Amino acid sequence: MTGTPGAEPFDAVDVIRTKRDGHPLEAAQIDWVVDAYTRGAVAEEQMSALAMAILLRGMTRPEVARWTGAMIASGERMDFSGLSRPTSDKHSTGGVGDKITLPLAPLVASFGVAVPQLSGRGLGHTGGTLDKLEAIPGWRASLSNAELMAQLEDVGAVVCAAGAGLAPADKKLYALRDVTGTVESVPLIASSIMSKKIAEGTGALVLDVKVGSGAFMKDLDAARELARTMVDLGTDAGVRTVALLTDMEVPLGRTAGNALEVRESVEVLDGGGPADVVDLTVALAVEMLAGAGRPVPEAEVRAALGDGRAKDVWRRMIAAQGGDPDAPLPRARERREVLADRSGVVTRLDAYAVGIAAWRLGAGRSRREDPVQAGAGVELHAKPGDEITAGQPLLTLHTDTPARFERASAALAGRWSVDDAGSAGPRPLVLDRVG
Ligand code: URA
Repeated sequence: MTGTPGAEPFDAVDVIRTKRDGHPLEAAQIDWVVDAYTRGAVAEEQMSALAMAILLRGMTRPEVARWTGAMIASGERMDFSGLSRPTSDKHSTGGVGDKITLPLAPLVASFGVAVPQLSGRGLGHTGGTLDKLEAIPGWRASLSNAELMAQLEDVGAVVCAAGAGLAPADKKLYALRDVTGTVESVPLIASSIMSKKIAEGTGALVLDVKVGSGAFMKDLDAARELARTMVDLGTDAGVRTVALLTDMEVPLGRTAGNALEVRESVEVLDGGGPADVVDLTVALAVEMLAGAGRPVPEAEVRAALGDGRAKDVWRRMIAAQGGDPDAPLPRARERREVLADRSGVVTRLDAYAVGIAAWRLGAGRSRREDPVQAGAGVELHAKPGDEITAGQPLLTLHTDTPARFERASAALAGRWSVDDAGSAGPRPLVLDRVG
């Protein structure tokens, strides 16, 4: 439905033509088109043409800022100013094995800074934080605004589903972009992420912009541009915002899949876990605490992972949302190993391929309404730089439905390598900082 002819101040076709021909949109055009799309007066096919024109032609900084503002104005804004603690949040642009939110939120909260993590579900090859936490028996993702506030005040950390009232224009537009090949646009990604984070009302924000095969941004220059755009949007809106650009060529940690990642996160909260997960959690926590005006030295932050302070908040955070932090986590019914075909050093293990394999095993969904398998996913026994002997398991695939093994194995074929010698040293995890 496109509204009564003449009743709207602009014509969607004129707006589309303006962007198609490479001209900037006027502020009033942007306000109108975002609002009219949200209330159904601009049709889906018109917005998909406009999104494609934006993807191909780009947007100026003032256009991106106005577009973000219009998406914020489409819904409610939360206000945490009544809390006794400052707030700081983190957003990752999405990667494979990226379970960092799980240890990070309680770690930051253990230093007296509240973390309001309003999260989403996974779609495609990247996992969703809510799907991971739902692997914990009893845990529920939906909280009312009053419950969210109470938990932030009492426990200090909340990971829950973003309510329908937050940036509804983005909810509609993101679903459209997902099916029209218009996700990978810097202005559209930046405005999508920042409209939700600004509407959420956090005082400080750290962006983890992923770069590499397992990320939306495959190269460093594109990731830097996305980071700069988002940092400027946040700063202009009064949110203290910085971005870390981090490697996503290889999966994070040694697991990809919901319960598998919860188990690994608990290891980190017990003072163990893979070094890359620990290091990134600590780096992001240091930034979040500094952004909230409560700087803590890195060594002190690291110590809170080992001495039970972060684990204590984790247990309270899970229990407050109905979860049993002591309950055994679900395990998949079937397992299959992928064996090294020769001895040597692992030189490549492609993050995207591991993400697709985990997804095909049942850890992710193709449609928003699909269920996920809590126990499904991929366990990595060796990563680039590690030595391996012929016949040893490189990966273990987990699923409840053995028919899925074939397509998961196909995703991995040719996407890992073992050679006589590795290339120079481990890859750096944090590639750049934009602040
Ligand atoms: N995450 C979002 O929320 N929006 C995007 O456009 C991409 C990633």
